[in-house]
Amino acid sequence: MSFESLKGKKASMEELKRRVEHVKRIIVHHPNYGELLEELNMMLFFSEDSVSPEGLYIYGPSGVGKSTVTTEFTARYPREIVKTVEGEYTHITVLHVRVPPKATPKMLASKILEVMGDPLHHKGTLTDLTSRIHHFVRKLGIRMIILDEFQHLIDADTDHVLTTASNWVKTFTEEIRIAVVLCGMPESVSVFLSNPQLDRRYCNKVMLEPFKYGTVEEIITFRAFLKKIDMDLPFPNPSNIADPHLAAKIYYISKGIPFYVMKLMERATYFAALQGADQISEIHMAQALPKLKQVARPYVINPFTDIHFDLATAISSENDAEDRFKEKLMVNTRKSSNKR
Ligand SMILES: Nc1ncnc2c1ncn2[C@@H]1O[C@H](COP(=O)(O)OP(=O)(O)O)[C@@H](O)[C@H]1O
Ligand SMILES: [Mg+2]
Repeated sequence: MSFESLKGKKASMEELKRRVEHVKRIIVHHPNYGELLEELNMMLFFSEDSVSPEGLYIYGPSGVGKSTVTTEFTARYPREIVKTVEGEYTHITVLHVRVPPKATPKMLASKILEVMGDPLHHKGTLTDLTSRIHHFVRKLGIRMIILDEFQHLIDADTDHVLTTASNWVKTFTEEIRIAVVLCGMPESVSVFLSNPQLDRRYCNKVMLEPFKYGTVEEIITFRAFLKKIDMDLPFPNPSNIADPHLAAKIYYISKGIPFYVMKLMERATYFAALQGADQISEIHMAQALPKLKQVARPYVINPFTDIHFDLATAISSENDAEDRFKEKLMVNTRKSSNKR
């Protein structure tokens, strides 16, 4: 796709949308991302016709790219309609399923059938549903099932692990004889703590981490990530977001989580194109920032309006502000309990 100079003229609504949509589709194959793709690839290969295929568990905080990487892997194997003498069916190599919240075994089994395309996915007992999954796995040629949002096997209201569902996953993994990948937020680790047999099935645990910004190497890696984004941004000129000063500011806002980096770029693209610019500048990022408020960070500053920005100082003053807030909260709680 090409993005011509706007020559200082405001982009049309269509053009704005086209550019923002382009940013939404940018995927960078950064080192950890590439390693995971390779891991999935190996797993698919090694589990084929294996007596006991290995399990893989991918975990990491929200927004690091777990769903992005597993979806990209799934999309490498497009579904194909196969015509046979008995009729047609859809050949599916990798099945990507999102575990429903507060999953019961039946809800989970039904969800798997639904993604397989079974119109009767909600019909029958758990045993019926499970044996239909086995049937469809063979019939459709499924070689890998990815269960995303695995933390939904924990009841978010009580923090209790949903034991019947985790047991179902364990037995299912043992019996299905194809690769099963579990993918979730770090808290989903407690599902394994409460189910050692499941834990043994998923010895291979890979963490997808946010970028870090401490050592020289970490900084280089994050800047390389930004550089790749920059090359893909929908403008004719580079935006130089990998510049050390800008990179530190973007790190401060994102804490190294790709989701926030991309949201910032998406909004900044909008403002830049709206103003007829041919690259994103700090001013556009400054305008974009109020549109991406993080409730967990009430004391975050706008680094893009701060010419004296220093990462370490900014992080420590944010922490101090939080501590002061907590202290005040404690004093007030004590005061009100003394009154009673
Ligand atoms: N490798 C990447 N390159 C570019 N953007 C990414 C990448 N990984 C994640 N993102 C951005 O972060 C957003 C959230 O990613 P997602 O895969 O949903 O995270 P998770 O499933 O870990 O919560 C994506 O929509 C995308 O904009
Ligand atoms: Mg996800």
